[in-house]
Amino acid sequence: MSNVTLRLVRGEAGNAASEAVYEVPYRDGMSLLDAIFWIREHVDPALAVRYSCRSANACKECSAIVDGKAGFLCSIRARPGSEVRIEPLSARPWIQDLVTSLE
Ligand code: FES
Repeated sequence: MSNVTLRLVRGEAGNAASEAVYEVPYRDGMSLLDAIFWIREHVDPALAVRYSCRSANACKECSAIVDGKAGFLCSIRARPGSEVRIEPLSARPWIQDLVTSLE
């Protein structure tokens, strides 16, 4: 079984950000948001990510920077054997991990 490597920005406002690396078992059709759910379920339930609809771009709450480009974590598919860097949006105040303020 192939893995997907996620490099995630971690930390919270007021402290320095760091990068954490996770190996997630790939499954067909997996989105990056699904991969983050796997991390929350199996490694670190404290990993912060905002989402609501969990489907393609309906709520837009899962916005993040993926490999340098803004996108929606629920609509970007993970690829087996790939490595992906995910950061919080830079244009909004950072709160924690992948979560920024909605204001
Ligand atoms: S969770 Fe709603 S657009 Fe991604």
